[in-house]
Amino acid sequence: MAEYWYFNEAFAEEASSYFLERPEPVIVMDFTIGERDFVNAGNASSQIKMALKRLGVDHDILRRIAIASYEAEINETAHARGGEITGNIYPEFVVIKFYDKGPGMKDIEQSMVPGFSTADEQVREMGFGAGLGLPNIKKNVDVLHIDSEEGGRTLLEFMIFFRKKS
Ligand SMILES: Nc1ncnc2c1ncn2[C@@H]1O[C@H](COP(=O)(O)OP(=O)(O)OP(=O)(O)O)[C@@H](O)[C@H]1O
Ligand SMILES: [Mg+2]
Repeated sequence: MAEYWYFNEAFAEEASSYFLERPEPVIVMDFTIGERDFVNAGNASSQIKMALKRLGVDHDILRRIAIASYEAEINETAHARGGEITGNIYPEFVVIKFYDKGPGMKDIEQSMVPGFSTADEQVREMGFGAGLGLPNIKKNVDVLHIDSEEGGRTLLEFMIFFRKKS
């Protein structure tokens, strides 16, 4: 499978129309991520978090955004040859996109399984490789979309609404 979608039921309708229309964001934040650059890994996520904090986003929601963003940023650093991160901020939600330079995933469903990891020695020495990043992202977001295949580039994007599920 080359494409994976997860929708939180509570926001599924609103989220679907977003992904069909892809409206212009109010604020765009762009970052470049270097391959194996563990020194700077996490910076993009914390800058997006700080911007959202200044905009008054609720603390619990901010925490979910920070966790999901950090895990995806580390994956782009550790499992891919770096790439780009774009934070798209809207009045009601944020969409963060992680677009890397490959080498892609063999099987996205398998990558989503808790405990599955292909992390090498260097990545494990940095304290990563438990195979819990992607499941943790899914747990914290309202929409998760991954487009990836072996040998290609990976796009991971997620959406989180600023209001709590009613
Ligand atoms: N951007 C990516 N490009 C290629 N493969 C990826 C990417 N992100 C994740 N993967 C694959 O999915 C697997 C699982 O990712 P996940 O984030 O769940 O665990 P991990 O990064 O190995 O360990 P942890 O996140 O717990 O430190 C990775 O080991 C890797 O094989
Ligand atoms: Mg990870």
